[in-house]
Amino acid sequence: MSRGAGRVILVGAGPGDPELLTVRAVRVLGDADVVVHDGLIDPRVLDLAPAAAERIPVAKRRDRHTLPQEAISALLVAKARAGLVVVRLKGGDPFVFGRGGEEVAACTAAGIPVEVVPGISAALGCAAEVQLPLTHRELASAVSFVAGTCQGLREQDWQGLAGPGRTLVVYMGLATAGAIAEKLMADGVSPDMPVLILERGTCAGARAMRTILVDLGSAVERAGVQSPALLVVGRVVGLARAEDLLGLRALEAAL
Ligand SMILES: C[S@@+](CC[C@H](N)C(=O)[O-])C[C@H]1O[C@@H](n2cnc3c(N)ncnc32)[C@H](O)[C@@H]1O
Repeated sequence: MSRGAGRVILVGAGPGDPELLTVRAVRVLGDADVVVHDGLIDPRVLDLAPAAAERIPVAKRRDRHTLPQEAISALLVAKARAGLVVVRLKGGDPFVFGRGGEEVAACTAAGIPVEVVPGISAALGCAAEVQLPLTHRELASAVSFVAGTCQGLREQDWQGLAGPGRTLVVYMGLATAGAIAEKLMADGVSPDMPVLILERGTCAGARAMRTILVDLGSAVERAGVQSPALLVVGRVVGLARAEDLLGLRALEAAL
């Protein structure tokens, strides 16, 4: 079903709640011939594409059965070359731990027009849900986003990213939570620095759990935290209205 010249639009789907899509994302989805999407995209978001649009999942939950990045880029290019409007739908924002840069580069190299529609990244959506200000005049004048994936964790230089006056948000840090706590403490961050674990933020069954850095690894295990989740490290965590979320576990009580 060709509508003329093919093109690719990278669209950020936000952290989960369909109401956090941008107006532009909704419009672009409505024009799609093909939607190439990540796992964990709410079916209500996919329903915004025309019924006749082809829907192609390329990454399943927790990265099982994920198509290699080169194959995803090749698929985008091939569909656009066939004259189709291709929406590449990604969780959060395409340019925050989303490999959007690689897909833009692949399209550009192939001479395919490409656009990017930003999305609400998990850190912003999840923080808003629990009314956690990532920066605050008295508590944090800087915020950093890092990836806590196993590969190269030890080699990553996070010196100065966490501590007094700063907020650190760790994406993909569940499996390495204990090692992350040790790394930060070795860098001089206080063991009693508050940490908020945000699980399935903005989605059904969201949980927010507060603990302190020295307890982070065991807190993740005790609470059976599942992906997707974020770890927020910093004094601003004390302001989060985690108690307003259904399912809050007051981990401090166990310390
Ligand atoms: C590959 S990264 C993609 C990030 C995405 N591009 C963004 O801007 O949010 C996936 C990680 O984002 C975080 N994440 C995504 N959605 C989330 C949610 N609803 N609640 C908590 N964390 C989430 C988790 O750390 C998850 O492992």
